[in-house]
Amino acid sequence: TGLVTVDPGFMNTASCESSITYIDGDAGILRYRGYPIEQLAENSTFLEVAYLLIHGELPTQDQLTALNNRVARHMHVHEGIKTFLGAFPRDAHPMAVLSGAISALSTFYPESVGRSPEQIELATVLLLAKSATVIAYLQRRAGGGDLIEPRRGGHYVDEFMRIAFSPESGEIEIDPAVRRAVDLLLILHGDHEQNCSTSTVRIVGSSHANIYASVAAGVGALSGPLHGGANEAALRMFDQIKESGDTIEQFVAKVKDKAEGARLMGFGHRVYKSYDPRGAVVKKTADKLLTQLGGSDETFQMAQRLEEIALSDDYFIERKLYPNVDFYTGLLYSAMGFPTAMFTPLFALGRMPGWIAHYREMLNDPRTKIGRPRQIYTGEVERDYVSLEDR
Ligand code: CMC
Repeated sequence: TGLVTVDPGFMNTASCESSITYIDGDAGILRYRGYPIEQLAENSTFLEVAYLLIHGELPTQDQLTALNNRVARHMHVHEGIKTFLGAFPRDAHPMAVLSGAISALSTFYPESVGRSPEQIELATVLLLAKSATVIAYLQRRAGGGDLIEPRRGGHYVDEFMRIAFSPESGEIEIDPAVRRAVDLLLILHGDHEQNCSTSTVRIVGSSHANIYASVAAGVGALSGPLHGGANEAALRMFDQIKESGDTIEQFVAKVKDKAEGARLMGFGHRVYKSYDPRGAVVKKTADKLLTQLGGSDETFQMAQRLEEIALSDDYFIERKLYPNVDFYTGLLYSAMGFPTAMFTPLFALGRMPGWIAHYREMLNDPRTKIGRPRQIYTGEVERDYVSLEDR
C-alpha cells in the first residue's frame, strides 16, 4: 500500500476533486462555481444560489420558478415529524433535534431514499423544503408557540420567517430589509468546500449511506464550536466579556495566555490567512442593518473594538488570525429575534445546498471509494492473554 504518513486534521490531504467552490485563503477569495461570493450576496436569492451550487449553472427564470414552486409545495412536514419535534425537552439544543429530524426524514419519505437520479432529485427538494420548516418549528418551540402550517407558495425566506415568527392569531409582515439579510446570510453559508461538516457528509455518503443519514451527520459536525457552533460561541463570548467586567484588552490577554483554553471565537480559519470574505460582507451588512433592525449597537461596537485590538496585536498578526464568517453573524440573527441557540441551525439551513451538492458530486464521481483513512499503530506489539484472577 506504499508509504503511509500521518496528517492530523488533514492539513495537507485532498480527499477529492471538486468543481463546486474555490477558495484562495491567502487572497481572501471565495467563489461558488466561479462566481465571486460578493456578487452572489449582492444580487441573488438563496434558492438561486442553491440551484447554482447543486446544478453548476445559474438558473433561468423558468428553472428558478420551477424550483421555488417545488420547494414551496413540499414545505409541509408529516405529522409524525411534528410529534418527534415535540418529544424533546423544551430546552433541548436545536442542533441535536435537527440532526435527529433530518435523519428521520428518510423514514417518512421512503420514496426519496436511494441513489437513483430521481430519488436524489426528490431528496434534494425535500431537504431544502423540510429542513426550513423543521428549523422554523424549532424557533417556534423555543418561543413557546404552537406549530403553524406552511402555505403552499411564496418566497422561501418569507415563508421560513412567517412559520418561525407569526403569532397563531395572525401573520407577520416580513420587513424587506430582514428578508434581504436572511437571504444574504444563507447565501454566504451556502458552501465552503471540504470543511468539517461537508467532509463528514461525503465520508458518510461514501459508505452508500443515504443522503439524509449523511446530512444528519453533517449537522452533528457543524454543531461543534470550532465549526458552525462558533456563531453561538462568539455571541456568548461577547456576553461573557460584558458580564465579567474585564476590559477587552484583559480578555485578549487571557486568550493569548492560553491558560484558560479560551479562544477568540469567530476568529481564525484553516484556509483563510487573511480576512474571511464572508466575514467582510456580514460586517458591512451589520453596520447597515443593526440600527434599522434595532439590534444591539453596544455589542456591535464591542465586537468591532475586539477586532481592532486583535488585528493590531502580534499574537494574531503572526498567526494570521482574522475574523471569520461567525464573528458578526450572531449580532444580525439576534437583531432579527433569534435566540442564541438558533444561530447554528440557521448556518445549517444555509449550508444545506452545499452538503447536497457535495453528496451528489461524490455520487457521480466514478473515482469515489469508501472513505477509509489509514493510521500509524502505536500500541503494544503482541502479548498473551492474562486470566482475570492473575491481573
Ligand atoms: N483564538 C486564539 N488563538 C487561535 C485562534 C483563536 N480563535 N485560532 C487559532 N489560534 C492559534 C492556535 O492556538 C495556534 O497557536 P500556536 O501556533 O501557538 O499553537 C495557531 O493559532 C494555529 O491554530 P490551529 O488551531 O492550529 O489552526 P486550525 O487551522 O487547526 O484551526 C480554527 C482553525 C477555525 C478551528 C481555529 O482558528 C479556531 O478554533 N477558531 C475559533 C473557532 C471559530 O471561530 N471557528 C469558526 C471557523 S469559520 C466557519 C466554520 O467553519 O464554521
